[in-house]
Amino acid sequence: MILIYNNLMIVCICKNINSKKIVQALRSGLTLDDLKVKYGLGSQCGSCLETAQQLVTRTKGEPIKKIA
Ligand code: FES
Repeated sequence: MILIYNNLMIVCICKNINSKKIVQALRSGLTLDDLKVKYGLGSQCGSCLETAQQLVTRTKGEPIKKIA
């Protein structure tokens, strides 16, 4: 599987959810389950869930960046 982490990548084709949206949501404190409910991530074919989980794993260890 190809995973482009810092560049924009469509993760969920069915729901048109890109990696930036997922990472931003994770950094704001949402969980993968929250993304499933809020955006419908993985709610159709489910093939995006492995990549989404990889984003969760990689985002967990990142320092929180200053917003202001
Ligand atoms: S690619 Fe995400 S549900 Fe199909």
